[in-house]
Amino acid sequence: MTVAAKLVVGNWKMNTSVYQAEELCLAIRERTKEVDKSKVTIVICPPFISILLVKDILKESGISIGSQNTFIDTSGAFTGEVSASMLSDICDFVIIGHSERRRIFLETDDLINKKMQAAFNVGLKPILCVGETLQERDSHSSESVIQRQLETALDGIADISSVIVAYEPIWAIGTGKPATPQIINDVVSSIIRPVLNDNSNKAISEKNPILYGGSVTPENVGDFLNGCDIQGVLVGGASINPIQFSHIVQLTAE
Ligand code: PGA
Repeated sequence: MTVAAKLVVGNWKMNTSVYQAEELCLAIRERTKEVDKSKVTIVICPPFISILLVKDILKESGISIGSQNTFIDTSGAFTGEVSASMLSDICDFVIIGHSERRRIFLETDDLINKKMQAAFNVGLKPILCVGETLQERDSHSSESVIQRQLETALDGIADISSVIVAYEPIWAIGTGKPATPQIINDVVSSIIRPVLNDNSNKAISEKNPILYGGSVTPENVGDFLNGCDIQGVLVGGASINPIQFSHIVQLTAE
């Protein structure tokens, strides 16, 4: 599939029963039916148990499906895990390295690199999340932290053309306090784009979409889309509200 010039990714996290997932994606489908999907790629990332149902409901809608996580091996005795090859039958995208996975499930940069390889091997497009804590920002180590997260995640990936990077400062996630356009632009221009350039030739790395995530709402999305050198947003809380999420999609497509 081709990724449009703009992207909106909805990360439902551990929310919605199967029945609620059905209702939510029906509402999103209805509210975004007039949106020109050649202008904005919409990706919905439901919990694993609802992926198939959501995919079926959205099959004619032009909305894509992503997974919130993947495991590193293909199959075998890994109770409770889901592999990238299993996901590749039903998803186009996979979120990798979300700060909640890093913090709560102790995912390391090396594990995230293995997940990137696993996604790459089966043709899933990774949405790689990077971002610093407030402490790291206050101690002026944001640059080195994000650089390390990116460089390790991309290590050994021969072709980074399918990689989407989401800058998600941890202090902005779920707090109602998003990063300023200036912070986002600084991180994109001084860290993310240069590391992508170092890992590929410029003609490819200039095209890798970079998203912003962290307390994105319909009220503030315009500030990021108009004021930042980004290609879209990764939405958490507002993605499980069909009115808010669809509004964000519409504003992004304008
Ligand atoms: P939020 O979450 O929009 O609720 O801040 C973003 C994310 O975790 O991806």
